[in-house]
Amino acid sequence: MSRWFTLYTEVLVRVLPEGDYALALEQLSEALPDAVAVVDRAGRVIVWNRALAKATVPREEALGRPLLEVFAALRADRNRDWGAALDRVLREGVALEFPQVPLADRVVRAVLTPLHERGGAVLGAGLVLEDITERVRTEERRVLRARSEAVEALGAGIAHEIRNPLNALSLNLQLLRERVADPAASRADLLAKTDAMLAEMRRLDELVTHLLEVSRGGPPSREPVRLDDVAAAVVERLRSTDTQAGVALTFHRGSRRTLLLDPRRVDRALHNLVRNALEAAPRGGHVWLTTRDDPVSTVAVVDDDGPGIPAADRARMFELFFTTKRGGHGLGLPLARRAIQDHGGEIEVLERPGGGARFVVHLPIDADPAAGARGGAAARDGGRSWHGS
Ligand SMILES: Nc1ncnc2c1ncn2[C@@H]1O[C@H](COP(=O)(O)OP(=O)(O)O)[C@@H](O)[C@H]1O
Ligand SMILES: [Mg+2]
Repeated sequence: MSRWFTLYTEVLVRVLPEGDYALALEQLSEALPDAVAVVDRAGRVIVWNRALAKATVPREEALGRPLLEVFAALRADRNRDWGAALDRVLREGVALEFPQVPLADRVVRAVLTPLHERGGAVLGAGLVLEDITERVRTEERRVLRARSEAVEALGAGIAHEIRNPLNALSLNLQLLRERVADPAASRADLLAKTDAMLAEMRRLDELVTHLLEVSRGGPPSREPVRLDDVAAAVVERLRSTDTQAGVALTFHRGSRRTLLLDPRRVDRALHNLVRNALEAAPRGGHVWLTTRDDPVSTVAVVDDDGPGIPAADRARMFELFFTTKRGGHGLGLPLARRAIQDHGGEIEVLERPGGGARFVVHLPIDADPAAGARGGAAARDGGRSWHGS
């Protein structure tokens, strides 16, 4: 709406003699749902439409006075120097846009636009305020609701993950207590109980480490490594698992590039993907890990000939604690995605031609930390403040 206003005023100012344009602007401004004020080149109010009068002071009170003197909410705005902004518009003839301005108890989108005369000199300025309070509030409510749902799911997941090892710990501790009280108990039995308890403690500790890694993420500590070498180490480590499950694990080395990566986190990401693939493949099945150098990214593909991923699970797979396995934790994929995104990359989920799942890891070649998912969002936010400046 305010864009149209700007356009019309530009036209009006060009076609009308100076005395008439205030009247025309006034008529135009009354047709708009937005609050509109127009000031002359000295910054004095010449147009004050009904929508603005309703939210502030009556028109008769405003006319002829400096804008900031009449408009208390602008004067009181601690986030922005409106006097300086208006000066700038009048002096330099630039338009300024503020997408989201809290004013008193409302939120508005504000546009300050210069009015040029035919010769190009600035005649005055228009201020258009669009009330976006409801839109912003609705969005805030939606975000809050989504956040509290996420927190609830997270809380339930963590509670569940902690309760299992905790139960096992307390069971073993009770048994240990009985054995200690029994003079005939063997030392081997006592040791077995303490070992079981230590294993549960390790499980808890791992859970905490994983949770921290998923939630904190952050910039990877990069060093020059080859994706192939990281992948080879993962395959080496998981080879014992594949023979156990009767699944063949094949690695095709195809990347010759040296990248700036956090080898530990990329290792974990690949480890989780390959492990999932090994768990999904049937006895006697196959898992393939392939790396290759694409023009814009370095790629690792994890294929398996398991059942593939049902469409319903596809959307939820990367959520914390989402698992379809007995004894699964649902931490592997969120962790892997976080690690790859923190590198500025992405994990893609596809169907393997011929059946099974295919996970494709893309790592950007230029290992620019700012290219990360969250770095990109921050840059967008930063660009939203002073349009046209
Ligand atoms: N290769 C795969 N084939 C089929 N389903 C998979 C595959 N990888 C992951 N999934 C699905 O995604 C879920 C989440 O995986 P993950 O986060 O690693 O947790 P977990 O392995 O503990 O279940 C799995 O439970 C499974 O349903
Ligand atoms: Mg897993």
